[in-house]
Formats: sequence, structure tokens, C-alpha cells
Amino acid sequence: MVYLSSPQRNRSVAIGKSGWYDSSMARILAIETSCDETSAAVVADGRDVRSNLVSSQVDLHARYGGVVPEIAARAHVERIGPLVEEALGAAGCSYSDIDAVAVTIGPGLVGSLVVGVMAAKTIALVHDRPLLAVDHIEAHATSAALVTDAPPWPAVALVVSGGHTSLYHVRDFLDVELLGQTVDDAAGEAFDKVAALLELGFPGGPVVDRIASGGDARAIRFPRTWIDEPHDNFSFSGLKTAVLYHVFGTGRKYGSVAHLSPREIADIAASFQAALVETLVKKTIRAAQRIGVSTVVVGGGVAANSALRRELGVACERASIRLILTPMKYCTDNAAMIAVQGEQLLRAGRIAGLDVEPRGGLRRPAKSV
Ligand code: KG4
Ligand code: ZN
Repeated sequence: MVYLSSPQRNRSVAIGKSGWYDSSMARILAIETSCDETSAAVVADGRDVRSNLVSSQVDLHARYGGVVPEIAARAHVERIGPLVEEALGAAGCSYSDIDAVAVTIGPGLVGSLVVGVMAAKTIALVHDRPLLAVDHIEAHATSAALVTDAPPWPAVALVVSGGHTSLYHVRDFLDVELLGQTVDDAAGEAFDKVAALLELGFPGGPVVDRIASGGDARAIRFPRTWIDEPHDNFSFSGLKTAVLYHVFGTGRKYGSVAHLSPREIADIAASFQAALVETLVKKTIRAAQRIGVSTVVVGGGVAANSALRRELGVACERASIRLILTPMKYCTDNAAMIAVQGEQLLRAGRIAGLDVEPRGGLRRPAKSV
């Protein structure tokens, strides 16, 4: 199969056994298996989500306090085939109606990525369709485009998930520049670890968020690492350790929190969340102002956090910045956001070879604290 770019029309066309097609009308089957969510979606024209199914493994990993890579990979193997069929069915189409197959190529847990990539390659080969290799984090950074009338670029994108906390300058879908990122724990990881030490369960973000709403965010002054530094990097491991020391004292490892009242736990949760959110908000706004963009988009699982949504809203309004909060179904890991980037790769003629390899990279570790 040969793929050519058609400069007159500034879009890509493909010539294959199945004939010509115009990528501006592409219907893309997308697959996402980078961590502990198996997802398949069918998206037309890069924004018309016909189906977007997510099979969560959270119940399988909860008792380990984090994602166990081996368990995640096995669950993807069991689920990916039926889920793809279901996504096609929900979109009212079959393999023959699909123009291309997009898949998350990385970063992620390599054993998990391999499952999605092998599935996508198989479909691409058997049905003679182009394969599109999508970067997971860039997909988070651009997922807001699923809900805007026009592409919202240029923008600063804050991607906050269990595996990543990064700021990007998004000039266009495929022109995404990393401005800075966490040098240790991701924001979601910090939520999960603090929840673990407060014995609140996994995943920690939603429960800390809920408990924090009943606490006093000014009760304890936890550190806001690098909040006034001019760079765009983050560090949350000191904050996590400060919570640990506050709860158990400096000399001790963590154990039972039976000595804390529900009120004290709520105050710790609220104060921790306030420190983390203030850091994210301040650094995001400052990056947008420095670069001179007037739009901020937010993606990733931690974008569900109620304090982050509220505080970003306040800060963006004050700074006359347009804030686009990606809806939750497109914030957490999902295949629709992979299709968005896949569509752009198809238009640009950037088709992956069947020998493309998953790119691993450290994501949320299984162990706590
Ligand atoms: O994007 P995501 O679904 O998966 C990754 O790619 O990591 O993000 C999951 C992370 C978890 O760490 C979870 O605790 C966190 O997002 N999270 C939250 C909230 N909901 C999910 N963190 C804070 N507040 C929330 N409401
Ligand atoms: Zn993610």
C-alpha cells in the first residue's frame, strides 16, 4: 500500500487495494491500552464520536494499592477483542466501514501497550487499513478539541493524570511542545499515595477530593514546591513526604491512622489538595502568560478534581484566559482522544509501519509511598 500527500488539496489520500479515500471524511477505529483501562472508539471526521467504550480494571488493582503491570496486561488480552467488536457495533459499523486504525504507541506500561498495538496491527493488516501510532500524552493534551467548535489552538495544556503531570504549548494538533513536567511523582500518584497513607483506598483521587470537601484547606500549611520558580517543572514527592511526617512524625514509616479523627483526616486531605492545586494553577497561568496564549486546556484523570476545576476557573477569569475543561469521559484514559490525534496523523500522511514498536516509559508504579 502506498500513501501519498495531495498538496493541491492540502490533505492526505491513500491508495490501497481497497481504492481511494479522502481522509477528511475518515472514520477511525481507535484503541487505547496504555495502563489499566481498555478502550475502543469509533470517531468520524476527528470529532464525531460514534462510540467510546472504556473497560476499567480498577477493581482488579484496588487491593494492591496501585496498577500491577502483569495483571493489567492479562486483562487487556481478555478484553480487547470483544471491546473492539462492541465499539464497532455501537457505532453501527463493521471493519469494512473503517478507514484507519489508530492506537496508543506510548508512553505507558509496555506489557499493556503491546496488547493494543498487536490488536491494531492485526486489524490494519487483515483489513488492509493504515495504522496510526498516537502519543498518549499528546492525545490528553489535545482531547479538548472534541468539545470545541473550532480547534482551540494555540493553548497551554495541563495534563494531570496518575502517570503524568506536564505543561504543553499546543500550537496545533501535531505541534505539541513540552514546557515542563514533574520530576518525581505525578499529581494523581500523589493523590493515590496520600490516600493510601490515610487508608482511604485506591484510586485515591476521587476519595481525597470527596473527603477534602468536608475539611479545612488552611488547617496545615503543606509545601508548594517550586511554585514561584520561573520554570514549568513540578515536584510532588516533598508534599507527599510532608503529609507522611505530619501524620506519623519524622522518625516513623506509615502504619495505622487510627490516632486521627475523621475531622483531622479531612483537614489533612483538604490541606494537601490545596497545596497541590495551588501549585498546578499558579504554574499553568504563569506559563500561559509568559508564552502569550489566551487559552488553557486541561486533560487527564486529575482534571476531575473539584478544587482544581474551581481554582483554575477563578484564576483564568482573573487573567482573562479562556479555560476549556475537557469533560470527564475524555479526561480519563479513553480511545476517542486517540482517534483525534490519529485523524491528524492520517491527514498529514504519517502512517506507521507494521513494525512500529510500543514505547514504554515509567507510568504509575504499583507500590505506594
Ligand atoms: O488519566 P487517568 O485516568 O489515568 C492515567 O493515565 O493515569 O488518571 C487517573 C488518576 C488517578 O491517580 C486518580 O486518583 C486521579 O486520576 N483522579 C483524581 C480524581 N479523579 C481521578 N485525582 C484527584 N481528584 C479527583 N477527583
Ligand atoms: Zn492517561
